[in-house]
Amino acid sequence: MTIRVLTGITTTGTPHLGNYAGAIRPAILASQAPDAESFYFLADYHALIKANDPLRVAQSRQEIAATWLACGLDPERVTFYRQSDIDEIPQMSWLLTCVAAKGLLNRAHAYKAAVDKNQEAGEDPDAGITAGLYMYPVLMAADILIFNAHRVPVGRDQVQHLEMARDIGQRFNHIHGDAWRSITGKSGEPLVLPEVQVDEQVATLPGLDGRKMSKSYDNTIPLFLPATELRKKVMSIVTDSRAPGEPKDADNSNLFQLYQAFSGPEQSAAMRQAFADGIAWGEAKQRLYDRIEATVAPLREKYGQLIKRPDDLEDILRTGARKARAAIGPGFEDLKRAVGLGRFAAISGRGAETAAAGKKLPSFKQYRETDGKFYFKLADAEGMTLLQSNAHDSPRAAGQLIARLKSEGASVEETGDRGLSLEGESIGRYADVSITFEKVIDALKALREV
Ligand code: TRP
Repeated sequence: MTIRVLTGITTTGTPHLGNYAGAIRPAILASQAPDAESFYFLADYHALIKANDPLRVAQSRQEIAATWLACGLDPERVTFYRQSDIDEIPQMSWLLTCVAAKGLLNRAHAYKAAVDKNQEAGEDPDAGITAGLYMYPVLMAADILIFNAHRVPVGRDQVQHLEMARDIGQRFNHIHGDAWRSITGKSGEPLVLPEVQVDEQVATLPGLDGRKMSKSYDNTIPLFLPATELRKKVMSIVTDSRAPGEPKDADNSNLFQLYQAFSGPEQSAAMRQAFADGIAWGEAKQRLYDRIEATVAPLREKYGQLIKRPDDLEDILRTGARKARAAIGPGFEDLKRAVGLGRFAAISGRGAETAAAGKKLPSFKQYRETDGKFYFKLADAEGMTLLQSNAHDSPRAAGQLIARLKSEGASVEETGDRGLSLEGESIGRYADVSITFEKVIDALKALREV
């Protein structure tokens, strides 16, 4: 099976080394794996939550598009698109909003941090907090779930959002799975629950002051600074006051962590030794700069070329959006139908297209008995009951069997005691003595042809 890998980057600010090492580089590496099918996108709707200066929003998404391409993303291989070009995403976001627990969203770190800050300041807890910030995890779940992504490479700070995406997806499956199975005739679940992937080695980089590199701390090293400015930034990294010749502790050094992120294992081991041998901080910074510059220089060059050609960038992203929408295909229509939207049809749960054409069909009806168990009946086109199912413990189990009968109905067999079975498993029995095996098989065949 091909693994579908998906990740997004919020298009605010200017990409920095932390974004590069923590998100862009691992994502691009993953996209090169032979069994990977990758979807990478600019989360420009998410950007609106954090920024309301249109010029900055516009500039940032263009810069970030050029950054990913400069860093080696191959748009032929990877589906690379803008979130805002995919109209199904905000629609999906609403379907998910309607199943997401509000209590779940209350617990989101970003929202809670904003509330805590207000409370500390003696303000109303929700002062200045937009509903956009609150809904952020749902929109993100929509980004992921609409593509049935299997794996999502992100920084550690996004792990909770991935848990929420799984949680929301699971709720959708639970609530709408039966309807989806009966509409599509498929077994399984409507939405794939995504796995989070955090690169343990370099998931987050320290910034100039030793805290996590983040634009909110104003401690970043922008990815495509001119070389002289890059060097100045590296030289301004905060270190302790150990003198040259004094041994230095690599494991507790933010400088060493940065060095590791831009070096192979051998170079890292040599630097670790240099720390133990008492390398001067100035010298260590120079070596770090050399490592970063060696990585970044060729990318910076490509970036410079790309950013000069916005029309080409536009073409690349539009092509990506077409590919992305093709990947959604009719799947989103099925989700809409599963929640009760989609085109009007006779209210019997049968295939909308056939119903619209006025053709009567056999049908399954699910119900619950006073014994608390779940059953279904199969009726022919005239409404005469043909088959009465065995008891099931859950509506889901009954729904799954119905889905199988719809797709594999031709393998149904008669058992000796006027019962029916599918691949050796008893399904139920004829509804009364007048029903023949032929009638059941014909009804299942008619359903299969829908
Ligand atoms: N919230 C992510 C971040 O800030 C960006 C993002 C939006 C994302 N939608 C996503 C990441 C879907 C992975 C999958 O880094």
